Order: sequence, then C-alpha cells, then structure tokens
Amino acid sequence: MNLSPINLFAYEQMAKEHLSQMAFDYYSSGAWDEITLQDNRAAFARVKLYPRMLVDVSEVNLTTKILGAYLRLPLLIAPMAFQCLAHTEGEIATALAAEIAGVGMVLSTLANKSLEEVATVANGLQWFQLYIHKDQGLTRALVERAYRAGYKAICLTVDAPVLGKRERDQLNQFTLPAGLQLGNFTNISGLEIPQEQGESGLLTYFSEQINPAVTWKDLQWLQSISPLPVVVKGILRSDDAVRAVEYGAQAIVVSNHGGRQLDGAIASLDALAPIVAAVNGRAEVLLDGGIRRGTDILKALALGAKAVLIGRPVLWGLAVAGKTGVSHIISLLEDELKVAMALSGCPSLEDIDSSIAD
Ligand code: FNR
Repeated sequence: MNLSPINLFAYEQMAKEHLSQMAFDYYSSGAWDEITLQDNRAAFARVKLYPRMLVDVSEVNLTTKILGAYLRLPLLIAPMAFQCLAHTEGEIATALAAEIAGVGMVLSTLANKSLEEVATVANGLQWFQLYIHKDQGLTRALVERAYRAGYKAICLTVDAPVLGKRERDQLNQFTLPAGLQLGNFTNISGLEIPQEQGESGLLTYFSEQINPAVTWKDLQWLQSISPLPVVVKGILRSDDAVRAVEYGAQAIVVSNHGGRQLDGAIASLDALAPIVAAVNGRAEVLLDGGIRRGTDILKALALGAKAVLIGRPVLWGLAVAGKTGVSHIISLLEDELKVAMALSGCPSLEDIDSSIAD
C-alpha cells in the first residue's frame, strides 16, 4: 500500500531517499553548530496557546491580502536556490503548486529556472528575491526583468552580505551537478557555481559575485530603478525594522535565513513581537523559519505576523513527488491551520490576536 506522508516531518524522512547526499545536506543544513536552525523549531514549542471556547467555528476562513494581493491562506513559499536538485521541474513545479493552492511564491535570484520561464508558466502571486551582485548593471537588469515579467515585489535579502558557513557543504565540496545552471544567468561567463577544492562552490560564488558593501542607501537605489514595492527579508532587530520602514520598505520578513547564516542568531519567532510593535502598522510583517505545523502558523499570526513563509518542506515535497508533493505539503498545512483555528475559537484570521499565544 502506498500511503502518502502524514505530515511535513514524514516528507523530510521520505525526501532523503530521493536526494543525493550533497543535495540533502545543502537543503537541510544550517550554519556552524546549527544552534539557530534548532532554535527556530524550539521557539515554536516554547510558545503556548490560549484557546477561546464556545465560538461558532462551523466556517473557518483563511483568506488574506498581502501587499494588496489576495491569498487563499496566509502563506508564501520562501525563496530557495537550486530547486532542480530536488526535481527536474524545479521552480516551475513549485510555482504551479503555489498558484493552484492560492499561496504566494518568492523566486530566488539563484533559481535553476529563469524568472521569465517561471512567470510564463504560472500565474499566482510571485515576488522576485534579489541578491545584489557586485556588478550593478547586472543587478539592475535583474530587477528590470522581474518587473517586465510581472513579479509584484522585489524581496531584498539583507542577511547574506557573505555566505554563512555550512560545514556539510564544505565537506561535500558543494557544486551543481552537470546540466544544472543558474537559470537567470545562462551564458554569462563567471556566473556559475564553481567546483572548489575543500570548499563549498556556493561560498566561492558569494565571495566573488555578491556585494558585501550593500547598505540602507541601496534600498533607496533599488526603489529608484523600479516601481515595484520592496520587501526586506532577514530582519531580526526592531531598530533595523524601523529603519527599513523609514527607507521605504512596504513589508519586512523577520528571518534568520532558516539558520543558514549567523549561527547563534535569535530564533525568528522570538524576534517577532518586538518588531511588530516597533513597526506599528507602517509595513506588513511576515515571518519565516521553522514553520512545520498549522499551529506554528497560528502562533506566528498571534504574535503579529501577517503571513508566514515556508522553506525546506517545499523542497521535501518537490523531491518526493514534484508539483504534487508541493501541493500536498501546502494542503497538509492548510488543513492543520484550519483545525488549529477552530480549536482556538478563531473562525477568521482577524480573530487571531495576541491573547491567543504567549
Ligand atoms: C534558502 N533561503 C534563501 N533565502 C534567500 O533569500 N535566497 C535564497 O536563494 C535562499 N536559498 C535557500 C536555499 C535553501 C536550500 C534553503 C533551505 C533556504 C532561506 C529561505 O528563504 C528561508 O528564509 C528559510 O528556508 C526559512 O526557514 P525554513 O522554513 O526552511 O525552516
């Protein structure tokens, strides 16, 4: 009998059998001792729910709007590089599953499929995640391409001026297998993931290509080159969140990059409430890192997030069953969130306030 995985953890177990050691390690690992990676999960276990009783929950409504766009549930797929390591359709399968489910998708600068290809095949809410390269002309061209292709926001990742040290990638000498490339940079020489002796090829790519001198001024520059709203991803401090708002960000993603950058950084859920208070409604606040259950989404929303992003589970779904696997991952989370809301006396997202979790 072929039973489908019962939850997101079961997908992770199953995905191991579908992935090379190098791909599984690249997807699953965090930086250095992986303390932040583990704490992202532990933070959800520390937060307790205070369910409300005797509320009519015969209808539970998960719909919301993010930057004016309608979502069927408060969920987006986080930007993740190299999705063709999991499945030949890679980011295309992810984008199609997101569209069908009515959730958002953020496409990574380092996708294997090009941003134009993804935007052509799928029509859901799509944002483009930007890494600012040292070559300013190339960065500007990426933003212009994203705008022309119909992406609805630029999601600027600010927590990776240099790449975090992921020791499993170093041991594996991580690189892309033959045939896989950076979809947004085909035929641009130098813009590939090298094979490095004793080092992760991605780390070398970052140190050669990504601009470590980016500052707040570049946020203004980014807004001057396209009409798209800017979402700043990777904020963990209230003062940075306030600065992002002052520099024009319309949304903020509270994130530590899934524990892959600065190990020892605060769990994203622990960072959330003070940031929501400091932003005080001037921008939408989203969260990612460690979301694996519907109750995790409920907790994040109760602590003030407007929506959440999921990362690795999408890759597990992709590895196990391509688009169908990603769809199933999303529907598992959707079902769990519905039950969690019903059991908390919250028939709609507006009912999820700070009294629900602490
Ligand atoms: C990422 N992440 C990421 N973030 C980003 O801004 N640009 C990127 O290209 C990538 N690439 C990437 C690859 C892989 C394999 C992973 C696992 C993660 C970080 C990602 O957007 C998100 O912040 C975290 O993955 C969220 O944590 P969870 O849900 O994976 O725990």
